[in-house]
Formats: sequence, structure tokens, C-alpha cells
Amino acid sequence: MTARIIDGKQLAEKLKLQLVPQLARLKEQGIVPSLTVILVGDDPASQVYVNHKANTFNKLGLTSSVETYPAQMTEAELLERIHTLNNDPAVNGILVQLPLPPHFNADTVIEAISPAKDVDGFHVSNAGALMIGKPTFIPCTPYGVMKMLEDEQVNIRGAEAVVVGASNIVGKPMALLLQKAGATVTICNSKTRDLGAQTRRADILVVATGKPEMITGDMIKPGAVVIDVGINRGQDGKLKGDVQFESAREVASAITPVPGGVGPMTIVMLLINTVHAAEQQNL
Ligand code: GUN
Repeated sequence: MTARIIDGKQLAEKLKLQLVPQLARLKEQGIVPSLTVILVGDDPASQVYVNHKANTFNKLGLTSSVETYPAQMTEAELLERIHTLNNDPAVNGILVQLPLPPHFNADTVIEAISPAKDVDGFHVSNAGALMIGKPTFIPCTPYGVMKMLEDEQVNIRGAEAVVVGASNIVGKPMALLLQKAGATVTICNSKTRDLGAQTRRADILVVATGKPEMITGDMIKPGAVVIDVGINRGQDGKLKGDVQFESAREVASAITPVPGGVGPMTIVMLLINTVHAAEQQNL
């Protein structure tokens, strides 16, 4: 079997087009959704991500601004800035790019963002709302994965889903969303004893470990749908996923490529969350 390629770029474009009439209706009511992105330090990968987010927003006519601060900024200064943005009615969404420099406590910073403006869905009250099945803002990456599965008409109800990686940003919310959609979910972590035995049970396999090509074709159940969240830069400079694409595509029924899979979806879900935030704050 050679797997169908799940084209995240194409789906992202389709979802962006679907937003156009919604944005036009909001504009008629004087509402232009606006996002402020905060970047602390000069991590080159973060700079690329942040500029890409801002460009995507601006192209669709949303307002976005990027505030860049030196790595020496203190946590108190950052908290003060977040407090000001929380109280600024012209700002609908606030995103603090992670990772922060080591002298910041990321949890403290995220908890300082107003839950109503937390378009990343990372605030503990948004994470809790998702846990009880009543989400307001769903973290963008797992939200994008759910949209891809929906668009591919993957049958989630009753399926065995295995999530490799248990982060607050991807793995845990991913597992909750799959479970809400009716899957039986296993979450694996770096201590999982026989990873292959777990992943080979999966009808739907989502991998978010940040370890390049750690999942190989022999760890995949024939016919599985494989979603690769990883983006790793190889020594040859090429982007690689957490799944070894060439061996996996011989076994899976459908698979996301890297790049062009989950990545483009994450930004669109951020757009959708920001529009949602603007609606909640104004309508
Ligand atoms: N760093 C990498 N991905 C993300 C994300 O989705 N949100 C934020 N805030 N930082 C990130």
C-alpha cells in the first residue's frame, strides 16, 4: 500500500477562504480581529514562525502586531506588558511565543494572559474547559489535526488512537479531543516500555515528540492514518518529521508530510481562534 498524502497546505487555504465572508460580516459591524504576538529574545526559528503568523494575518485583513523584546527583559516587565494588553479593548488575542528565555517561568507568564484573549488555549482555565469537554479556545496544533481528520472523513468513533508525546501544547489536548470524538486513546511518553507494541495498535497515530524519524514503518499498523506533528531540521538542512516518511507511507493508508502537513494548519487555527475571540468580546 502507498498512503494517500494528507495535504495540510491545501486544507489550510480552503479554511482561509471560508473565513473571508465571516471576516467581511464582522467588518460591517466595525470589528477587525486583532492579535498581538510577543517574542522575547532572538531565537531565529521563533522569529521565522512569528513573522509568518503576522504575514498570514495581515494578508487576510486581520490586524496583527509583533512586539519583540530583548532576552534580558525581566519577568515583571513582561507581566506588566501582558496586563496592559489584557485591558486594551483593541487587542482580541495575545500570544507569547514559546520557548521563553530560561529566566522566565512560562507557566506564570501564560497564567497572566486573560483567558478570554488566550488564543493559544494554553491558560489553565482553557485547558480545564477542554478537559471537561466544554472548550473555548482549543490549542491550535491539535485543533488543526482534528480538522484534517474531519476533512479526510476518518472514522474516529470507536477507533484505537495512539498519541506519542504528552506535552501540554500538543499531546494532552490531542488525546482529549480524540477521546471526545469517540476514540479509545492511549498516550505514550518517553518512558513507554515497548513503544512499537503500542503504536502498532493504532488506527489513528499522532506523533509529537520532537525526535526526528523516531517512528518507522514497522511500528505502524497496516492501513493506519498517521499524523506527524514534528518539525525537525536535519543535519542536511532539510525539514524532517517525527515519522520516517518513506517507510511509513508503505504501510499507512494516509499520512501527513513534513513540511506541508500539520504546520500550515496550526496558523489557520490561530486565525480561527482569534476571530472567535473578537466575536466573543464584541457580539
Ligand atoms: N512555539 C511553538 N509553537 C507554539 C505555539 O503554538 N504557540 C506559542 N505561543 N508558542 C509556540
